[in-house]
Amino acid sequence: MRRIYLDYNASTPIDLVVAPAMGPFLEDHFGNPSSGHWAATPAKAAIEKARGQVAALLACHDDEIVFTSGGSEANNLALKGVAWPLKAKGDHIVTSTVEHPAILEPCRFLTQCGCSVSFVPVDGAGHVDPDDVRRAITSKTVLVSIMHANNEVGTIQPIEQIGRITGDHGILLHTDAAQSVGKIATSVDALGVDLLTIAGHKVYAPKGVGALYVRRGASIEPLIHGAGHEGGRRAGTESALLTVGLGAACELAGDPEAMERVRALRDRLWQQLQAKLGNRIALNGHPEYRLPSTLNVSFIRRPGSEILSQLEGLAASTGSACHSGRIELSPVLRAMRIAPEIAMGAIRFSLGRGSTQAEVDEVAQGISRVFLERGSHA
Ligand SMILES: Cc1ncc(COP(=O)(O)O)c(C=O)c1O
Repeated sequence: MRRIYLDYNASTPIDLVVAPAMGPFLEDHFGNPSSGHWAATPAKAAIEKARGQVAALLACHDDEIVFTSGGSEANNLALKGVAWPLKAKGDHIVTSTVEHPAILEPCRFLTQCGCSVSFVPVDGAGHVDPDDVRRAITSKTVLVSIMHANNEVGTIQPIEQIGRITGDHGILLHTDAAQSVGKIATSVDALGVDLLTIAGHKVYAPKGVGALYVRRGASIEPLIHGAGHEGGRRAGTESALLTVGLGAACELAGDPEAMERVRALRDRLWQQLQAKLGNRIALNGHPEYRLPSTLNVSFIRRPGSEILSQLEGLAASTGSACHSGRIELSPVLRAMRIAPEIAMGAIRFSLGRGSTQAEVDEVAQGISRVFLERGSHA
């Protein structure tokens, strides 16, 4: 199979419009944005323009955007940065069982620092029940962190409903929107969140940049202490090069037509696989509340990694890993209680701006051929 990239949830290419916007900051405008002379002016202005572009996508104030090195840092800043100043008030955090490691690991760290963390379960479609969040909240809870959309199966969580619950309790709500920004609406007021994570390389910006939205009034301790960059919330000389890339990407990201095209291709891939393989495949994730880009399919009783290894040109992901002959199932699918013989066969296809109908048709054809060929020998 020729090279086909269906792993946009892992990373996106830098958009053709984004790269030229960054060019002048690679070549000419090297000044430190904090300096007080002419060399600082273009860099400082560009960073503030980028902040405005990111804020426009989230419908928030410019000063509520803190630039970070990516989604992982934004998540760490949200969790540790909130837990620290609020420790006199409480030490309990609520999150879910299907979060990205960039949430689960800081939570594990915080438990070592004396916090306690409750993990709300998900149903078979990967959906959190807001009532479980309500029940998990105690008088010691200072933060709820539930991802907006899951990276593996694409299930979209009911953040608006959870936001009403945290609002009623006066508790901060963070959402990891690394996968949802640019794919579905992420207005912070509509979602009712106080903190929201963006990862640049999931929205056609470069790697190494992201942002955390921090609602005005929410106090946050920096992870990196130093000079007062980013309103005292993240020390370190800002990169105009990277923030300009993120800003330009966010300006492009809100196009609903582009996403509808991706959704139609995603559905076409699913329909073709279903037509060829019928009940030998199963959909993982919510049939309706799911990212338009994401199709996680289980090829029943066949390791997803084995299928992908037969199709060298195809870049897609399997959540399950094979270690010393044993298949380790994806923690997300385990949390969804997907039966092992189904979970082992999961492949995540994630589509994006560059995906085409010809690619989708070729992948459906190639995957079905590999599955049926090997299946008949088994
Ligand atoms: C849901 C989610 N959160 C956080 C991250 C981490 O983002 P970054 O790679 O920018 O650190 C990812 C990346 O895969 C992700 O999918």
